[in-house]
Amino acid sequence: MATEIQSAPPPAGRSGFWRWLDRRTGIDAALHAALDEPIPGGARWAYIFGSGLLFIFLSQVITGVFLAIYYVPAANDAHISLAYIVKVVSAGSFLRSLHSYGASAAVVLLLLHIIQTFTYGSYKGRRELIWLSGCVLFALMLGMAFTGYLLPWDQRSYFATAVGTNIMGEVPLVGGAIKALLRGGSQMGTLTISRFFVLHVFFIPAGIFLFIGLHVLLFRKAGAAGPIHEDPLAPRLATENFYPRQLVMDLLFALLLVAVLGALSYFFPVPLGPRADPANTTFIPRPEWYYLPAFEWLKFWPGRSGLIGIVIVPGIVIGLFVLTPFLDRRLERHPLRRPVAMGSFGLVLAAVVGLGILSHVQDQRQPAVAAALAVQEQQMRDYMREPFHPMLLGAAPAAAGASAAAPAADILARGQALYTSRACIACHGAGGRGTPLAPALAGIGARMSADQIAAFLRHPSAKAAKTGMPAFTGADADLNALVAYLRSLK
Ligand code: HEC
Repeated sequence: MATEIQSAPPPAGRSGFWRWLDRRTGIDAALHAALDEPIPGGARWAYIFGSGLLFIFLSQVITGVFLAIYYVPAANDAHISLAYIVKVVSAGSFLRSLHSYGASAAVVLLLLHIIQTFTYGSYKGRRELIWLSGCVLFALMLGMAFTGYLLPWDQRSYFATAVGTNIMGEVPLVGGAIKALLRGGSQMGTLTISRFFVLHVFFIPAGIFLFIGLHVLLFRKAGAAGPIHEDPLAPRLATENFYPRQLVMDLLFALLLVAVLGALSYFFPVPLGPRADPANTTFIPRPEWYYLPAFEWLKFWPGRSGLIGIVIVPGIVIGLFVLTPFLDRRLERHPLRRPVAMGSFGLVLAAVVGLGILSHVQDQRQPAVAAALAVQEQQMRDYMREPFHPMLLGAAPAAAGASAAAPAADILARGQALYTSRACIACHGAGGRGTPLAPALAGIGARMSADQIAAFLRHPSAKAAKTGMPAFTGADADLNALVAYLRSLK
């Protein structure tokens, strides 16, 4: 005992306990290494996004663990277990909303972090591996968003994932195998949920932990790059330690995140929709906002051209992005003196934002789609308002969903009635399967937009008119219902 106390000079001003702990753990040296990282040019608000991401990730882990206490990853139980979290568990809805908004916040912060490091040229000067590990983290996070989205197993999560996995299936050679691997078969069911669950809570988070460690380690090895006029290899500017000012800035930002996410979750809880009903063929799938640009992009590449849209163009863009530090090798960091890098980065960013906005605008421009999407929103709100119904053995689980789906089905029923009463059926056949008189209409939704179909119905082509196809006269609401019905034909 006595020799131990005398063995090393006690750090000045430390309590007895601290000395006791430091001798056993080396915590003083560890804190020194962690907090006294020199930052050339000093602390800045521009640097807060990386630590903001780390903070969100930890928050996701914590809220995720609490959700996992109740969540059951199986087709028959997933939705009801989530309904229980949202409607019964105290603060369950708040917690789930934090987790869901947290995912969106992570995407926003990731974007800001990338914009900051790209604009500052922080990948220059032996920092290629930091950039590459960041790219892996980017991919892993998108994987988290994708796998997490299915887990509630409500209408929108089910159908969005059905579309997402179908798109993966379009990738030549490996697509079919990836799709089958993810789904655990050709259809989506319990195997799909359990695979997504395992990816979401074990595999991908393990990868994220690993790569965050690597990312930070490599960052500390290279040192902070500093502001845009700093030499990335041999810093000239005076340095300031990470502690205290940068740490305080990072913590204030974390506090802001807590406030914003907390307020959103409290005042606008994320809704849970009716249970997924795979038999519903009229549900209009829409992905979460951060996947909308990709979703919109793919609309430009129907049929065989999908190879270009799904593989070639994204492959080139992603390849250029990942290889940025190898392509842009000059040590110049000022964004205005890097026109090629900044120009192409800005262009891609503008395209992504533009596609996202376009997707929203297009939905609003098609009255039938906008109406159906509004109905789907309403169904979610209605379902949220219903009290919790414990699952009864033998009860048809889809019954509640079927009655809630009535309004969307209404439009289609009206369209179908018009299809018969206006004699479309005479030439185009039952279910739009076509007759010798007129071509099949099934699948027309993939070829023509709602506006194009509506215009065609108001003014049929000469050939159609010659055969006797009448121009549609009547109310726009009827026309929209008819168009919605035609587009629902598969
Ligand atoms: C007398 C027969 C006839 C009737 C009745 C008829 N159509 Fe047609 N329709 C045609 C023919 C023929 C074409 C093909 C025109 C062409 O190829 O240019 C056509 C084309 C179409 C197309 C475009 C298909 C495409 O792939 O470009 C749509 C949409 C359509 N009809 C919807 C309707 C609807 C809705 C009704 C009922 C209001 C209807 N048709 C009634 C004969 C008919």
